[in-house]
Amino acid sequence: LQLILIIVLLFCSVSLHPPGSENACEKTSFTFLRQELPVRLANIMKEINLLPDNLLRTPSVRLVQSWYMQSLQEILEFKDKNDVPSCSFTDAVIKIRNRHNDVIPTMAQGVVEYKETYGTDPVVSQNVQYFLDRFYMSRISIRMLLNQHTLLFGGKVKVNPAHPKQIGSIDPHCRVSDVVRDAYENARNLCDRYYMNSPELILEEFNVKEKEKPVTVVYVPSHLYHMVFELFKNAMRATMELYGDAMEYPAIHAQVALGTEDLTVKVSDRGGGVPLRKIDRLFTYTYSTAPRPSIDRSHAAPLAGYGYGLPISRLYARYFQGDLKLYSLEGYGTDAVIYIRALSTESIERLPVYNKSAWKHYKTMHEADDWCVPSKEPKDMTTFRSF
Ligand SMILES: Nc1ncnc2c1ncn2[C@@H]1O[C@H](COP(=O)(O)OP(=O)(O)O)[C@@H](O)[C@H]1O
Ligand SMILES: [Mg+2]
Repeated sequence: LQLILIIVLLFCSVSLHPPGSENACEKTSFTFLRQELPVRLANIMKEINLLPDNLLRTPSVRLVQSWYMQSLQEILEFKDKNDVPSCSFTDAVIKIRNRHNDVIPTMAQGVVEYKETYGTDPVVSQNVQYFLDRFYMSRISIRMLLNQHTLLFGGKVKVNPAHPKQIGSIDPHCRVSDVVRDAYENARNLCDRYYMNSPELILEEFNVKEKEKPVTVVYVPSHLYHMVFELFKNAMRATMELYGDAMEYPAIHAQVALGTEDLTVKVSDRGGGVPLRKIDRLFTYTYSTAPRPSIDRSHAAPLAGYGYGLPISRLYARYFQGDLKLYSLEGYGTDAVIYIRALSTESIERLPVYNKSAWKHYKTMHEADDWCVPSKEPKDMTTFRSF
């Protein structure tokens, strides 16, 4: 298996241009996937092996590794077969996708188990954060490929009746404000359930080139939905927690702007904000100030508590060369901004690569900071006067 992993490490990345492949036939997709899926699986499997031994030994991480091994073997069975019935490949793709449904919570559980048993040190935490960003990004990309194949060639119906213009999971005319409103409504339902009330939405749109036309973009609507839904849940929670039992809450403002390079979505709340010192921390996996939700799956989806909302949303934004940033005015509120490339030609997948630089990242001893730490200033200030 190690040898196979090394042989198949060469990538081919996908872009949103042309949107999906309208004329792509199933055979082309098959040939591409049987080559590309092992590459992506192999790259990330090599990287899992660089995690600390004790983390690798946790039952959860072992389970995740076994899923990847199984899937790699299954896909490699199609390597030299050219007369495969299309349904058997599609079935294999669906089986793989379902097997990997719980990768995020299982991997997260492994990290929790590890931290509980061995504690944390800054180097391990940094490496785990680096790894999880790359691991979950790899998963987003693999699922994108699997979904695209099953949506286009999986069933008898090739057109999604709800979104007839969509090509697989890609919408060449994704109406951004519609997705924003949809995400707001669903976040609001959750908010109403927890707090018996919710802030209103004020939505504005700016289309720089065609002022009267709604803002559209070539994008994967489910990715956009995921991001804004997380931002709305956060904005609502901050607002409701700050205003407590007040009967009125400041509205959440959402702005959608389409320029020549960027499509930007900003979600602004007046939920009291976060100090600058803590902003980076909000993007670390498992960081949450909400109580951990109960695991009982019969319960409704929680509004917050896993601490995965922001880091995973940022990965979705970065996946097609965009980004997600938070700007806060402590004492007032927070602006969360999603950047997406306006041009589909620029929306190329951003994929982690297993190479020497990645390897070094895990193995290099982290050196001392090259800026002085304020708390370690010499107490005797007279030292400075002699300079
Ligand atoms: N708009 C916001 N205003 C204030 N705090 C926020 C905001 N968005 C996120 N946070 C803080 O960041 C933490 C992490 O957010 P997130 O990754 O979405 O995880 P979760 O919502 O599950 O806690 C939240 O628990 C909260 O403390
Ligand atoms: Mg959240």
